[in-house]
Amino acid sequence: MKELRLVFLGPPGAGKGTQATRVCEALGIPHISTGDIFRREIREKTPLGVEAKSYIDAGGLVPDSVTNGMVMKRLSESDCKSGFLLDGYPRTIEQAEVLDSFAKPDAVIDISVRDEKLMSRLTGRRECPECGKVFHISALADQEKCPICGAALVQRDDDKPATIRSRLDTYHAQTEPLIAYYKAAGTLHEVDGEADRDNVFKSIMAELGI
Ligand code: AP5
Ligand code: MG
Repeated sequence: MKELRLVFLGPPGAGKGTQATRVCEALGIPHISTGDIFRREIREKTPLGVEAKSYIDAGGLVPDSVTNGMVMKRLSESDCKSGFLLDGYPRTIEQAEVLDSFAKPDAVIDISVRDEKLMSRLTGRRECPECGKVFHISALADQEKCPICGAALVQRDDDKPATIRSRLDTYHAQTEPLIAYYKAAGTLHEVDGEADRDNVFKSIMAELGI
């Protein structure tokens, strides 16, 4: 399989994590979610987690000075040599420039979903703390337990309506400009994220020519 450096762009709740899991399984490349890394640091109460928490709880971005170093360190690990998928990074033009200077992405997939569809996706999201799978309550027979491993499902702290509104504002102000940035670079691929999960996956693979 060809080495692929991928970036998933898209607003909160677009389905970046859901699709990244499948794409990484299919391609055998590591899934690097900055949000997941921050949440692990918060659970472990590390200095990085303590710093990140205040920004995440407010629906803003963790400063570039913290995030860039964390991601470049992760990308220097040996499993990234044959490619990687970045989910939720970059989110600012400065982050995109830092990434370009380290490893230019081969393809940037923008998963687009209108704001009005996102609130119910996020308020209804549940995650399994054991196996990491993401669900929506509309598809769960038992809303308390993971259908795969049986662990108690949890709701993310930032999936409250007021925080979701702030995250959407942050996305439009700071991350949406990356669509034009990558269009100009010739690496942008747009995918309709309002289709069902299987069709979004098929569209992504088709855009990648796989
Ligand atoms: P992060 O964890 O990346 O959150 P986000 O970007 O807000 O995106 P989400 O994880 O909420 O959504 P998703 O697109 O992954 O959707 P999912 O697949 O789960 O970041 C969290 C915070 O960390 C940020 O706010 C920021 O503070 C900080 N941070 C992270 N990266 C940073 C960076 N680079 N710089 C600075 N700060 C950073 O799906 C959502 C729901 O929809 C689920 O219930 C799912 O089942 C459902 N769903 C998925 N696909 C479909 C579909 N096709 N149809 C119907 N429902 C669907
Ligand atoms: Mg996610």
